[in-house]
Amino acid sequence: MKTFLVTGGAGFIGANFILRARRNKWANIINLDKLTYAGNLQTLAELQFDRDYKFFQADIGNLEFVKFLLTEYQPDAVVNFAAESHVDRSIVKPDDFIQTNVVGTFQLLEATKSYWQNLPPQQQDHFRFLHVSTDEVYGTLSFTAPAFTEQTPYTPNSPYAASKASSDHLVRAYHHTYKLPTLTTNCSNNYGSYQFPEKLIPLTILNALEGKQLPVYGSGQNVRDWLYVEDHCDAINLVLAEGQVGETYNIGGESEKNNLEVVEKICAILDRLAPQPDFKHSSLITFVKDRPGHDLRYAIDCNKIKRELGWQPQESFDSGLMKTINWYMSNTAWVDRVKSGAYQDWITQNYASRITS
Ligand code: NAD
Ligand code: TYD
Repeated sequence: MKTFLVTGGAGFIGANFILRARRNKWANIINLDKLTYAGNLQTLAELQFDRDYKFFQADIGNLEFVKFLLTEYQPDAVVNFAAESHVDRSIVKPDDFIQTNVVGTFQLLEATKSYWQNLPPQQQDHFRFLHVSTDEVYGTLSFTAPAFTEQTPYTPNSPYAASKASSDHLVRAYHHTYKLPTLTTNCSNNYGSYQFPEKLIPLTILNALEGKQLPVYGSGQNVRDWLYVEDHCDAINLVLAEGQVGETYNIGGESEKNNLEVVEKICAILDRLAPQPDFKHSSLITFVKDRPGHDLRYAIDCNKIKRELGWQPQESFDSGLMKTINWYMSNTAWVDRVKSGAYQDWITQNYASRITS
């Protein structure tokens, strides 16, 4: 059995990846996570007695500790999910995005390089460093432009996207210069179980269930491509096993929707699953002040991973959304925990001025 060092494994995608890796026996897992506001060990509760899963609370920027973990556990791969990931937070306060996404990734690469360079040649050949990135590095598209390919030039527009672009460039440089066996994946917007409700889909589901306003930025015409998180995790595992070293792979859900469509779909499903006697959920939709520099459209051309590795998303947006809504309705203990404390401060900070304006 292989061993993966997963960073950011207490966050949304990382935790889904770890759960899937342990359930399907993909690998033993060492999880390194700083446990910022976005990290939640509750998500991984089912692994508490799993002897092939270990958790360490640490920063990816802690060079000596990461070197120690690598030497101690001799992983076959590092899978880097750790990041500050929310665009709106990067607009309010970019500092942590630079620190973790740029400096932290640099330190993680340094620690990994030092470990990898000391491996015996055969282990060196099999080792992989997989960096999880985003389609936002490619910038924005008009409604009619062709989707982003792996050749699209980087033109990041938000502090978040710029910090992820920087980290992608560092990964590329470590492969080019030191021959570190890297892989980079650029995916579209993920959704599914265990997502922190600062992002559009879980925020809308939970607000709607509570009869609260559903904030839609601007006119709601901005388009995103929606990728079900388990499809994304399967793609990452496939890229780790079969991806060409030094290459990047776009991963998308083939489900472009504008934000208003997404919110209206959630409302229509909740009208059936949780009907309200006095109102339709869509009456809660509230158009609010737009995000500064809001990218109009992201769209992913994922033909490379389909053609070369045989991956393809298994979930349609309708089936994935239904699973996601059912999950949030059935996991109220998890939801109540993440919504306590600091979450409320963020909601006040981000929405108070938008709603009143
Ligand atoms: P998330 O915000 O839910 O989780 C991030 C995790 O990283 C948290 O557990 C947090 O505690 C941890 N972390 C933050 N800083 C750290 C540090 N310095 N050291 C160690 N751990 C740290 O993010 P997510 O949605 O799971 O995203 C995972 C990755 O996928 C990120 O790199 C993100 O840029 C990328 N991505 C996400 C999406 C999406 O739709 N969620 C889309 C494209 C790309
Ligand atoms: P988000 O989930 O924050 O992901 P990203 O910014 O990485 O795409 O936002 C998805 C889209 O939804 C984006 O166009 C912004 C919009 N949005 C809203 O309209 N209202 C909201 O409350 C949030 C959080 C996002």
